[in-house]
Amino acid sequence: MNIRACVASVVLFGAAGANAADAKGTPTFTRDIAPILYDRCAVCHREGDIGPMKLITYEQVRPWSRAIKDVVAQGKMPPWFADPNHGKFRNDRRLTKEQVAKIVSWVAAGSPKGDPKDLPPPPQFADGWSFKRPPDVVIEMPLHAKVPADGILDMQNYYVKVPFTEEKWVEAVELRPGNRSVVHHSIVNIVSLPDTVKPEDLITGKKLGRIGWKLIGQAPGKGAESHHHGTAKRIVPGTYFEFNMHYTTNGKEQTDKSVLGLWFAKDPIHHEVLTTSAAQELWREGQKIPRGKLPNIPANVDNWEIVGKMAVKDDITVYSMSPHMHFRGKDMRYTVSYPDGRDEVVLNVPKYNYEWQLNYEFDNPLKVPAGSTISVLAHYDNSKNNPRNPAPNEEVIWGQQSWNEMFIPWMEYSIDKLDMSKLSREEIEKLRRPAARPAIVE
Ligand code: HEC
Repeated sequence: MNIRACVASVVLFGAAGANAADAKGTPTFTRDIAPILYDRCAVCHREGDIGPMKLITYEQVRPWSRAIKDVVAQGKMPPWFADPNHGKFRNDRRLTKEQVAKIVSWVAAGSPKGDPKDLPPPPQFADGWSFKRPPDVVIEMPLHAKVPADGILDMQNYYVKVPFTEEKWVEAVELRPGNRSVVHHSIVNIVSLPDTVKPEDLITGKKLGRIGWKLIGQAPGKGAESHHHGTAKRIVPGTYFEFNMHYTTNGKEQTDKSVLGLWFAKDPIHHEVLTTSAAQELWREGQKIPRGKLPNIPANVDNWEIVGKMAVKDDITVYSMSPHMHFRGKDMRYTVSYPDGRDEVVLNVPKYNYEWQLNYEFDNPLKVPAGSTISVLAHYDNSKNNPRNPAPNEEVIWGQQSWNEMFIPWMEYSIDKLDMSKLSREEIEKLRRPAARPAIVE
């Protein structure tokens, strides 16, 4: 949003808010504001979570009321980067216009407390885990990782062998930092490692093997990620959990032991949720680029473009999309081109922010018929205008460090014909794509 549009909408919200307040009286904290904060903000702004202050009691909220008005009017909080013109997402925490208007007119009226009897009960968060029941299995990182007092750390990778003797269907997953003061963000991938790998190799922090597939990305306040009823991710024995940790130093030596909670599906599963990168092919300036031949990003360019494409061979159902780039990542847009010639932008992230690895979950899963193409257009800013850019005068190579670049337009989907409620086990095995390692730019 440009500044002028932003100011205009604040004024508009303000006016609407004043009218609403006249009709029902001035909004109060206990009756009007607390329910909004409990629903949309408390998940991060509470004891022990990432938000820099708690927003539960009137006494906690009152000193922040102007700042709250500013961040909600500007759309900065809750953090969310999808362009509202494309797609509806079930994990969208943004406030409605009416909610913003209420906050604006509450602050304009001097942030009154209101009748204590109106205050709803404080939000409850289940014993650290945010899914509706305690996890069936908790996987701990294999060590207390040491984070030094200062300096910039490489991404650290720690591995835990999947402890199951049979495949498991996971309906919800949550990754919780052990020490929130140093865990910037983290990801758990499922990877295969060679048989020759030794136990001591698993805890060096070094990357082993290839990327595999993303089980979950943790970002502040994200909580559990759950799948639609009857769908789940499948974790097979013999693979490894890869804790891919991005630590930031904070002036004091610290340790972290992050944990992964898994909830197994209780009901029969009809579709497996698969995770892939939609960049099965890479294109630049209208030319297809062979794997491994992708040019580096030159120094001092502010809008370097790449396109990823995926030809859809079977009817699929897409549940979510999650752009992944590093410091130079600028924007990413997913478009579906249907067989009838129609193009539809399904997710647009015009201002990508590396700090928040969000997964955008469609409200109604997207039906994409065979014969469609999914194209993903992304840009990188390797100029000095990018405040996150550590070295604008240097060419950027592709790699796993945050100061290298990546292009992974993740997507979660299932293949419609792989319906386990209708097919036999053998038929499923035959149809399943051969251990699909997503084609990833690394
Ligand atoms: C997903 C987690 C999350 C949610 C949800 C969230 N916040 Fe925040 N908030 C943060 C974090 C983390 C920061 C620290 C700055 C940053 O990293 O952007 C922050 C910063 C702020 C600040 C600025 C504090 C300062 O120091 O100036 C305000 C005000 C704020 N949040 C209000 C809200 C309100 C109001 C909501 C709900 C409408 C909300 N936040 C929802 C995580 C969250």
